[in-house]
Amino acid sequence: MMGTMESNSARGISMFFSVFLMAFLITPPCNGGKILVFSLDGSHWINMKLMIEELHARGHSISVIRPSKSWYIEEVSPLYDSINIPQSKQFEGLIQGFLERYIKVQREGSSSLTLLKLIVQFLSMISEVHSIYCDMLAQIFDDPRLLQSLSEAQYDLVLTDPSIAFGVVLAKYLKLPTVLNVRWITSGDGHSIIAPSPLSYIPVLGSGLTDNMSFTERIKNLFFHGLIVFQEVFMIGPHYEAICDKYIEGGCDTSSLLQEADIWLFRSDFVFDFPRPTMPNVVYIGGFQCKPAQPLQADLEAFVESAGEHGVIIMTLGTFLSGLPDDITEDIARVFAKMPQKVIWRHTGKIPSSLGNNTQIVDWMPQKDLLGHPQTKVFVAHGGTNGVQEAIYHGVPVLGIPLFYDQFDNLLRLQERGAGKIIRLADVNFHSFEQGLKEVLHQDSYSHNMQRLSVLHRDQPIPPMDHAIFWVEYVMRHKGAAHLRTQAYKMPWYSYYSIDVLVALSAAGSFFLLATFIVFRLLCCRGRTSKVKKH
Ligand SMILES: *[C@@H]1O[C@H](CO)[C@@H](O)[C@H](O)[C@H]1NC(C)=O
Ligand SMILES: *[C@@H]1O[C@H](CO)[C@@H](O)[C@H](O)[C@H]1NC(C)=O
Repeated sequence: MMGTMESNSARGISMFFSVFLMAFLITPPCNGGKILVFSLDGSHWINMKLMIEELHARGHSISVIRPSKSWYIEEVSPLYDSINIPQSKQFEGLIQGFLERYIKVQREGSSSLTLLKLIVQFLSMISEVHSIYCDMLAQIFDDPRLLQSLSEAQYDLVLTDPSIAFGVVLAKYLKLPTVLNVRWITSGDGHSIIAPSPLSYIPVLGSGLTDNMSFTERIKNLFFHGLIVFQEVFMIGPHYEAICDKYIEGGCDTSSLLQEADIWLFRSDFVFDFPRPTMPNVVYIGGFQCKPAQPLQADLEAFVESAGEHGVIIMTLGTFLSGLPDDITEDIARVFAKMPQKVIWRHTGKIPSSLGNNTQIVDWMPQKDLLGHPQTKVFVAHGGTNGVQEAIYHGVPVLGIPLFYDQFDNLLRLQERGAGKIIRLADVNFHSFEQGLKEVLHQDSYSHNMQRLSVLHRDQPIPPMDHAIFWVEYVMRHKGAAHLRTQAYKMPWYSYYSIDVLVALSAAGSFFLLATFIVFRLLCCRGRTSKVKKH
């Protein structure tokens, strides 16, 4: 009886959502809107492009602002028109050079000096990237013809990734509504600038902490928060403030620009991330890029099937890095050669001499389709957001070798839930890699926990991509979503924390106490003096 009631109500709910979904799919795509897109290069572009594909399929027309020497953003595409902005320096060399130096320093160990060196390296690289983008902004603002064509194009909104504040500055200038495709902003986690983020249980980007922190860990968290504030105030903010002062009426700064955004499409969800306070204009689209696996190409499929019962290991370290240092690559190749599994390894550097004949090196792999293949047992990855979320979607446990930025923190979220294991770059060698790989392969808990995350992640009323597109079109239909923004962003800090109220109340309280005291003092003294006089 209970069973049928439950299944009836479950059916009711699923009916409701199908109707909702149908209504969504039938909603006219607002007669084809016009969207101006600014995205970062590399992996950020990969997921922005998927969103563009979807918007294009729904009849919207899209213009993409791209650096003329872009690394990944194609100039000619059937999906969009390009607006090319000359760029002073190529990112590819800059980022790869930085990563090589960064990896070298990481391998020196884990002392405070190493940490300091890493921080300095990172800050100088990131500051240079922002300054290149700010030069590009200045070029746009100095080009009256381009500015005119941008304003005459009558875009409905700007869709942008705010890790670089380029898009929000442009949106401010063109007075357009903004939708963010976001995880990180110029400094730190996107939430930190709009939602309450107590440092007591919200680990700061880069801290490598979880939401359960001891007293000393909370001190460390505060230190990393200080670092983020330092980075924003002294290294990154000034580049944009210079642009704002010169070209934007009334000036602007990165925080107010970000806080004015209409909708935050957040590339995260609470299956992956630790629970935290959020805001009405934040929409979680974690895993929006994930799709059911497509069949592999015949030769790859044959290779994967040839693994038999042992299955397949796949490895990639992302779009930014061509290869690890040679000695690590050799160690990894030797471990792979010993395994009974077949291995597919995306690697573009020198071919290791110890490569086994079970290992196939490729310069590109269909990562989603391989992750979705039932033969795939372990994903060896650097922990970029895209890869981690695809692994969750397909339920494949991860052996992580984080390289930089958010990668350690991403992998930590899997490790905390028993769905992955981290080996720090400084610790990668033949033995640690072999041990880690065998542990993730043979301890069933890794795969069970990851499959549980996968089931939780997939249990959503609407697929995250449809959710994202709905909100982009919502902003078009209503010309923004200002009604979802809190008042917080217009307040000075002392009002936000009610310091002014506390000061006023304590002043009033003290005045009242003092006044009462003086009155009593006067009354009782007068009483005493009059008594004294009587005698
Ligand atoms: C938090 O960490 C402490 C110390 O490591 C541990 O004893 C406690 O069980 C943890 N709490 C939760 C909720 O995981
Ligand atoms: C390579 O493959 C062959 C079979 O094709 C096998 O006999 C041989 O042991 C393999 N070599 C190594 C080093 O695994």
